[in-house]
Amino acid sequence: MYPDSAALEAVEKELASSPPLVFAGEARRLRKQLGEVARGEAFLLQGGDCAESFAEFHVDTIRDTFKVMLQMSVVLTYGAGLPVVKVGRMAGQFAKPRSDDFETQGDVTLPSYRGDIVNGIAFDAEARVPDPSRLIKAYNQSALTLNLLRAFAQGGMANLEQVHRWNLEFIDDTDQYKRYEALANELEQTLGFMRAIGLTPETARQLRETDFYTSHEALLPGFEQALIRVDSLTDDWYATSAHMLWIGDRTRQIDGAHVELLTGVHNPIGLKCGPSMTPDELVRLISVLDPDNDPGRLTLITRHGAEGIADHLPGLIEAVTREGFDVVWSCDPMHGNTIVSSTGYKTRPVAKVASEVEQFFAIHRSLGTHAGGVHFEMTGKNVTECTGGSANVAEENLADRYHTHCDPRLNAGQALELAFVIAEHLKTARN
Ligand code: PEP
Ligand code: CO
Repeated sequence: MYPDSAALEAVEKELASSPPLVFAGEARRLRKQLGEVARGEAFLLQGGDCAESFAEFHVDTIRDTFKVMLQMSVVLTYGAGLPVVKVGRMAGQFAKPRSDDFETQGDVTLPSYRGDIVNGIAFDAEARVPDPSRLIKAYNQSALTLNLLRAFAQGGMANLEQVHRWNLEFIDDTDQYKRYEALANELEQTLGFMRAIGLTPETARQLRETDFYTSHEALLPGFEQALIRVDSLTDDWYATSAHMLWIGDRTRQIDGAHVELLTGVHNPIGLKCGPSMTPDELVRLISVLDPDNDPGRLTLITRHGAEGIADHLPGLIEAVTREGFDVVWSCDPMHGNTIVSSTGYKTRPVAKVASEVEQFFAIHRSLGTHAGGVHFEMTGKNVTECTGGSANVAEENLADRYHTHCDPRLNAGQALELAFVIAEHLKTARN
């Protein structure tokens, strides 16, 4: 893919001697928490951009996505009584698999855009040439993003007494904001009671800070390989580009480089399961990816679409249950619900997203398994990329603020609205 292989080699060498972005102990802690998700004792919220970009890199963008995930967590934890494990599609989610190798506009055909870590999004021949120096830029941006996320998680912003401050101005007159405020008021009363009995953010870390983890699709084996390190405590190998890595739906061949890469590391890992995944294939993949059947090692991220989930998911669950595998089941209701609007934009109707989530809960409930988590493409910005929701983004409005570098994301209001839908299902599932 890279025309200058010597330059690529030099960059990979530089990365191989660069500091890890995350630490093995953190990845182990996430794996343990995902074990709780597998047992139905916690819920996984994974979310962030489809593709991070160099152009949209800004402290406000990261802060706002972080805030929405905190709000969603309050809705889920306070509404359903379950701890929420928060994992961002952030600090490394740059590389994009593409269905087509080429893109044609008019009578010009160029190689497809593959994410800022590989080439440029501009439709010109020079921008589309894969450039190894982008790997370094993505590594550096990931480090800066992680630095902010650590500060947000541990430096005061995640303090539960700030629950009213997580709101984003542009959603403050919507219905779901009012619902959120009502919940935040209740939470404030509870915190007042806890303070009276001596439990305060000063004395209890859980009230003052949160754990926030990072993840991305491990699409570039060379990049990931360069950042694998041996953990000095356990002598095990860990990917240090993110706490959790997942294998995409297009690169999950059992004898392929992506599966091989992730079998070799001890991080918690994800596997996307789309409509072409058969139950037999899934069982074979789990045997390879999680040979010890350790709950928390493997998260199956199913993405069949609102129209396909009822046909595909039950067969996968039955096979996994029959084999006795303890996995986390998570629902990505984004990638199976992408359509092209009448105005020519790639979009996703929020109603379809919600429908896939609701069917996900219903199917797991009927089969006696845990609906463990969700995987959203979302942002804290007021974008107009997915249609519908209570803000009622119409197809004609998609052009207003359509900023994504790849797939359409839920905006803050749409994401919060879905959190309320999920909280209701979690309450039912726990009764
Ligand atoms: C993605 O998560 O952005 C993605 C490309 O998903 P999938 O591999 O499920 O198509
Ligand atoms: Co995507």
